[in-house]
Amino acid sequence: MIIAVDGPTASGKGTIAKALAAHFGLPHLDTGLLYRAVGRQVELNGGDPDKAEDALAACDFADALLDDETLRSEAVGGFASRVSVHPAVRRALFDRQRAFALQPGGAVLDGRDIGTVIAPEAQVKLFVTASTAERARRRWLEMKGRGLDTALAAIEQDIAARDERDMNRVDAPLIAANGALLFDTTTLGRNEAIAAAIEIVHRTLDRP
Ligand code: C5P
Repeated sequence: MIIAVDGPTASGKGTIAKALAAHFGLPHLDTGLLYRAVGRQVELNGGDPDKAEDALAACDFADALLDDETLRSEAVGGFASRVSVHPAVRRALFDRQRAFALQPGGAVLDGRDIGTVIAPEAQVKLFVTASTAERARRRWLEMKGRGLDTALAAIEQDIAARDERDMNRVDAPLIAANGALLFDTTTLGRNEAIAAAIEIVHRTLDRP
């Protein structure tokens, strides 16, 4: 079984995808991390994330980079969003994601284009959203927890800019896939969101 979990940044999609994977005993891939690694590698190379050739050259990052804590920063998130605009970058990362989705037994993948491009045949497609203000608040709390003191307004601005770029790019824009179930987590706590998502998946699978 393939479960595709898409949605904007800090919507709760990562938490939900991880919990679904644990609940259904499936492996999980956070595809945003791949784009973050490319963004970080461009930075390490001294390249320009807006230049397709610099971004493509960064796609052969070493796997060890995926464990680097710096990938979680807002700055790298911004770089990731910029490199992800280039079709050549998306093509370079496609096979790895597709192979993960197609492994025997299935998988849970979260990102922006799992239900639309990477695994349109997924049995379950969730599109997770939350208001921009709530997503900014969550990101702010997360950063505070990591000892980073960033102004809430700056985070909100950053998130809005990233949404704008992700939704309006020509190749694989952030959009709910055909047949995706919309799941708004704005008013839900972490555990409530997880329980509701598990329930949605069970209901979808039980449907004749
Ligand atoms: O999900 P996360 O915030 O880690 O993703 C970072 C950036 O990577 C996103 O803003 C988006 O531009 C890009 N991304 C993408 N396609 C995916 C996953 C992430 O374009 N499947």
